[in-house]
Amino acid sequence: MSTTCVVGILWGDEGKGKVIDYLAAEADYVVRFGGGHNAGHTLILPSGKCVLHLVPSGIVHDHTVNVIGNGVVVDPVHLVGEIARLRERGLSIDAGRNLLVSERAHVIVAAHRAQDQWAEQQRGKGRIGTTGRGIGPAYADRAGRLGLRVGDLIRPASLRTALERFIGEKNAWFHAAGLPGLDANELFDGLSATGETLRPAIVDAGAVLRDAHKAGKRILIEGAQGCLLDVEHGTYPFVTSSHASTGGAFSGTGLPPHGMRVIGVCKAYATRVGEGPFPTELKNETGDRLRTAGNEFGSTTGRPRRCGWFDAVAVRYAGELSGAAELTVTNLDVLKGFDPLPIAVAYRLADGRRLDRFPAFDLAEVQPEFETLPGFQEDLRQVRRFQDLPVAARRYIETIELRTGLPVRTISVGPERQQVILR
Ligand code: IMP
Repeated sequence: MSTTCVVGILWGDEGKGKVIDYLAAEADYVVRFGGGHNAGHTLILPSGKCVLHLVPSGIVHDHTVNVIGNGVVVDPVHLVGEIARLRERGLSIDAGRNLLVSERAHVIVAAHRAQDQWAEQQRGKGRIGTTGRGIGPAYADRAGRLGLRVGDLIRPASLRTALERFIGEKNAWFHAAGLPGLDANELFDGLSATGETLRPAIVDAGAVLRDAHKAGKRILIEGAQGCLLDVEHGTYPFVTSSHASTGGAFSGTGLPPHGMRVIGVCKAYATRVGEGPFPTELKNETGDRLRTAGNEFGSTTGRPRRCGWFDAVAVRYAGELSGAAELTVTNLDVLKGFDPLPIAVAYRLADGRRLDRFPAFDLAEVQPEFETLPGFQEDLRQVRRFQDLPVAARRYIETIELRTGLPVRTISVGPERQQVILR
């Protein structure tokens, strides 16, 4: 199969960047299909740590074409800044050659950020914990037929018309919310200027990808966030605003739904940033230890991540939903010294009913039922073969396979490229 899609299985931050980096060495195209610069994909390169937000992770390989698909929401000011920062790191970015942006992708402007932050304040206790980057409002405007598209940035007449529509409605709304109104000329000038900088990259990316697909090119699709943050299938309303599971890979790239190998990435434990239910969360000293051991702080916002035990109920659900044929389990090395190691295998509702399936409601009330396994004390970072893992670590992985119904083909035992076990 020439197309592979890598998706996060739970709430993002599973270490997809490393997996994509690894697979990108063999890919002709690396494509983002959803989300925006709320994502943070961390790569550990020989030159040090590198965090990508909008630019696909294949950019570190000179031979890959990196495509920001139509399903992504693009803050053009952020994108220009990210390209500049990556060039400073010595990466070669040549817009139009190794970086393409879909003309159909929607644009985030400063007003979206203001609206995102304003909406969070209004939510009070019910806040989602968004990244505050304008992602939700930009997707809302796309659905509301108000949005600006990347292609507008290089078409002055089209940009004027789009701005008229956008500002007309936004200003009425902003006025009611007590937010400062928008100025059409100011927006036009700013957007046109960033559009000029990005011009060589702005293309009909769907057509490029369909041609590549027909020509048998190897396409690697890079998920952002995770299946449980999917706007429809995730822990609504504590989700992002895009289709973060595999479904979004078709609508968000313009590729046809032909055969695709799907790899689900999850950590050897669970984490979440932002608000929302998290059945296996450890709100105790063990959770703090996991956070420290795994350096669990957001790569985009720096927020401490909530940590908990592996949740096979959630992984099974997301595995089915995403069509994952296999799992990559990351951060197994982090579990060193945690003994015993519980894995959630079912949930109990308050009235005593047992749930084997991940529910759409009542998740905040469920209590996980655990299968408890022995832990391991060994450092795994130098291990490269499954049979060289300590017995307890092997048993842990085999139990994940049994309880999720998915084979674990790849295990990551450290942040660096070579710290990986392939089975
Ligand atoms: P938004 O995507 O900024 O609207 O935030 C909605 C929810 O998704 C919040 O809980 C965020 O913390 C979470 N979120 C968004 N992007 C990521 C990501 O890349 N990793 C993990 N969580 C994310």
